[in-house]
Amino acid sequence: MKIGIIGAGRIGSTLARHFVRIGHDVVISNSRGPKSLAGLVEEIGGTLRAVTAEQAATFGQVVVVCIPYGRYTELPTDALNDKVVIDTCNYYPERDGHDVELDDDRTTSSEKIRAHTGANLVKAFNAIHWANLRDRGRPKGDPGRAAIPISGTDTEAKAVVAGLIRDIGFDPVDTGDIGRGGRTHQPGGRLYGAELTAEAMNDLLRAGATT
Ligand SMILES: NC(=O)c1ccc[n+]([C@@H]2O[C@H](COP(=O)([O-])OP(=O)(O)OC[C@H]3O[C@@H](n4cnc5c(N)ncnc54)[C@H](OP(=O)(O)O)[C@@H]3O)[C@@H](O)[C@H]2O)c1
Repeated sequence: MKIGIIGAGRIGSTLARHFVRIGHDVVISNSRGPKSLAGLVEEIGGTLRAVTAEQAATFGQVVVVCIPYGRYTELPTDALNDKVVIDTCNYYPERDGHDVELDDDRTTSSEKIRAHTGANLVKAFNAIHWANLRDRGRPKGDPGRAAIPISGTDTEAKAVVAGLIRDIGFDPVDTGDIGRGGRTHQPGGRLYGAELTAEAMNDLLRAGATT
């Protein structure tokens, strides 16, 4: 699969490494331009190439957005419209600046990114610390295999993202749409940062865990 990654920090580079390892065709971008990513590309190797954010958005059959939430209005909207986009972003007001709608919980960061880009958005990889994402992948059936919560409206898009999660060694747990479901795994939500198996995470959801 062609995967475009926007944001080449801790989460973007960790996902790039995983997706290259399992055989995908991956491009990665940041805000400073492809030349600034030469070292990362050399280190990860394989199919990985550095491009602009616009090119990553155009290239990917799936595009992963891994930037500070406060910069989402810089995303290339035309190329992301209708595309399957994985949103890994979290809202941290101390880093991103205050967003009154989010402070009042009138909407969520993912819904705002979806509205801005027109993307077919799936929220995933936002609730796991980048070092666990790097190190805690395990084969299917391993009792220590960790869960990654996901949310979104489109079941086909969620199935694609769930497949990627399984292929890099984790179990996806579907929490529902990005509004209600997304709140369970955004900062402050019960599943945010929770280091659980899929069974334990599903138990929490069945028990009504939200925030
Ligand atoms: N760190 C974690 O453990 C973790 C876990 C889950 C989710 N998250 C969330 O995932 C997102 C990324 O986190 P991170 O820790 O990977 O951040 P990070 O290490 O600070 O990296 C951020 C990346 O975003 C790029 N970027 C910023 N604005 C951009 C733009 N307009 N276009 C393209 N690229 C842009 C930066 O590029 P430049 O350096 O060139 O500006 C940088 O490569 C955040 O929303 C974070 O809250 C983080």
